[in-house]
Amino acid sequence: MKKDLLGLEETSTEEIKFYLDTAETFKEILSRPIKKVPTLRGKTIVTLFYEPSTRTRMSFELAGKRMGADLSNISVSGSSIEKGESLKDTVRTIEAMGIDMIIIRHGKAGAPHLAAKTIKASVVNAGDGAHEHPTQGLLDLFTIQEKKRRIDGLNILIIGDIAHSRVARSDIWGITKMGGRVTVCGPPTLIPVEIEKMGVDISYSLDSILPQADVIYILRLQLERQKKGLFPSIQEYIDYYAITKERLARAKSDVLIMHPGPMNIGLEITEDVATSSHSVIEEQVLNGVAVRMAVLNYLLEEHSPLKTGNLFSKDLVSTAPMRRSE
Ligand code: CP
Repeated sequence: MKKDLLGLEETSTEEIKFYLDTAETFKEILSRPIKKVPTLRGKTIVTLFYEPSTRTRMSFELAGKRMGADLSNISVSGSSIEKGESLKDTVRTIEAMGIDMIIIRHGKAGAPHLAAKTIKASVVNAGDGAHEHPTQGLLDLFTIQEKKRRIDGLNILIIGDIAHSRVARSDIWGITKMGGRVTVCGPPTLIPVEIEKMGVDISYSLDSILPQADVIYILRLQLERQKKGLFPSIQEYIDYYAITKERLARAKSDVLIMHPGPMNIGLEITEDVATSSHSVIEEQVLNGVAVRMAVLNYLLEEHSPLKTGNLFSKDLVSTAPMRRSE
């Protein structure tokens, strides 16, 4: 029985579809005047973030609260991590307090995997180094499917800093498992060696492939993680790879513009593109809550259909949770 969500690489297509289906149910709940279900009443969730976050941390917190769970947040600053406590000791200590799940963001790839091996409680990867960010991948899949009614057969162009992007990796695993075609595009120094082994095409020429894209997924240029000299200058990057109004005009008339946030406005994307009718960037944020509710439900709810083998039940979100909370 699965207790953790560590990456989309190890998540089956069946599980991904299940998450997307249950997220649809939870999104409907989020549109109600009372946005609550008691599914996780009595469960305790801890967020343990070693790196900054606005969207991921807050949407996990909201998702847990909407489902009646108790939540606690630990930041590096002000905790015993500052005194040198190891990740293993920290997660063991948190587990000793009787919690059910730890949601971890860490600068080192594999940190959530180590935590998952160390404790019996569930672990969710909220971003580990440049490795994976599985719930971002799921919310991106959900948003594409919601807007395009399918992922299968779509051309999805991921632009920019692929080398430092855990979002790109999770999106590539997820999109290819769902039948989409991915092209990664950016300066050669920001495209990892052998990325084609993940089943993607590579292009260094944005202007030549832009017109074929159904979805343009723009990555944040992670200047804080880059060593100096990966491209000649910021202006050169903008000239060749920024998505501007002029470039958007050359894309398909129904193209979707996506970005995981936070955006460097004026660098990889211009303000008018981010706020254009093609942009679903704010919807990605809203969908993040619904998708994270689906993840918490699956990992913490014992009667979840994937766990009981009752995957084809019409009642996808289990028998209990659809009652409104008091
Ligand atoms: N997309 C994303 O992970 O955003 P945060 O860093 O704000 O969580």
